[in-house]
Amino acid sequence: MARFTLPRDLYHGKGALEALKTFEGKRAVICVGGSSMRKFGFLDKAEAYLKEAGMEVALIEGIEPDPSVETVMKGAEKMLEFRPDWIIAMGGGSPIDAAKAMWIKYEYPEVTFEDMCKVFGLPKLRKKAHFCAISSTSGTATEVTAFSIITDYAKGIKYPIADFEITPDVAIVDPDLAETMPKKLVAHTGMDAMTHAIEAYVSTANCDFTDPLALHAIRMIEEDLVASYRGDMEKRHAMHNAQCLAGMAFSNALLGIVHSMAHKTGAAFADYGAHIIHGAANAMYLPKVIAFNAKDETAKKRYGVIADFMGLGGSSDDEKVALLIAYLRKMNDDLNIPHCIGCYGADSYPTEKGFVPEEVFLARLPEIAKNAIGDACTGSNPRIPTQEEMEKLLKCCYYDTEVDF
Ligand SMILES: NC(=O)c1ccc[n+]([C@@H]2O[C@H](COP(=O)([O-])OP(=O)(O)OC[C@H]3O[C@@H](n4cnc5c(N)ncnc54)[C@H](O)[C@@H]3O)[C@@H](O)[C@H]2O)c1
Ligand SMILES: [Zn+2]
Repeated sequence: MARFTLPRDLYHGKGALEALKTFEGKRAVICVGGSSMRKFGFLDKAEAYLKEAGMEVALIEGIEPDPSVETVMKGAEKMLEFRPDWIIAMGGGSPIDAAKAMWIKYEYPEVTFEDMCKVFGLPKLRKKAHFCAISSTSGTATEVTAFSIITDYAKGIKYPIADFEITPDVAIVDPDLAETMPKKLVAHTGMDAMTHAIEAYVSTANCDFTDPLALHAIRMIEEDLVASYRGDMEKRHAMHNAQCLAGMAFSNALLGIVHSMAHKTGAAFADYGAHIIHGAANAMYLPKVIAFNAKDETAKKRYGVIADFMGLGGSSDDEKVALLIAYLRKMNDDLNIPHCIGCYGADSYPTEKGFVPEEVFLARLPEIAKNAIGDACTGSNPRIPTQEEMEKLLKCCYYDTEVDF
């Protein structure tokens, strides 16, 4: 038996934030990141709408990008004091993911971070609060997914918490919030969404309910992302929906090893001054992983369907896979995203010599490969790599060399 779970309600379109006025409850806590939601006035609006609904409102502000276990624990303490019956998480994937984990700890204070990371092992939530997610970036789709990604900085590893219990009750997909994204964020989050849709479509857990969502998202992202990056606001709005459709697909079909590799490399070189930003990591690794997975006949056929759906041409599945890879690499060029870790600058832009030194990468490679294989996203990848294959694949992602194994 398989399960397909989405939020109970999804409010979308310009001004959808106003849906907060209709919420019923006594106390709401709003969780946000650094400052963008306050700066652009969305936090004030959300607070006013909730007060109009008769609720007392508290704020948890300053949730950092790639949130830490410590941030989650601190936020949960604040929730235990304030006792909200609504948790409203607003912003990019980071504050929403942190709020999801805080929610678990708020409902079950005795649960440890290790307990939370047991895949599909959470106890029943919603005994204390319901959860509404309002996305301000067009990529993670965490407003509709069963996932939360929390970073353990002591280990330099991102851990996915995965359980339908943390699928939000309400998602608000209001394109007004996406308009203020800087270009780089549009590029990274957009390629994250493309990766979600493609990985979901070829995942071993794909089904009739996820396939149409994934394919439609892929075609929308093909049509809308680069124009949105160049400043077309209609396309920006379309991308906000497209990433959400991709999220609905992957929350139920799961992902693959592009994400396993992105999770395990993201913070692995933080001591050299930067993160490999999630969306950029996906954008660089996706073409390599497609070449690797296409050695599996079923996956190859599915990539062929994607290429057909995108109208890329090609008469055999091999040709279609090659055209898909070329198309995605061209998107990276258009979005100013590097092709490999070796040329990934500390500012995330392509450069001659990236911030991860070759000898450091090679020294850490066996451990990173082992961690990537052990990531929760590996199980649904169409081809399970051995330690040796994962090391070779990661090397291709460092040097931008061809995957021929
Ligand atoms: N839960 C999931 O299903 C899922 C899926 C993919 C990725 N993730 C995780 O999500 C995180 C990344 O999230 P993200 O890419 O949305 O970015 P983010 O939340 O980390 O935000 C990045 C930066 O953009 C700013 N920002 C956000 N929205 C803005 C706006 N509208 N205008 C101007 N600035 C804005 C933030 O203040 C922050 O400085 C990573 O930790 C990643 O691992 C989660
Ligand atoms: Zn992602």
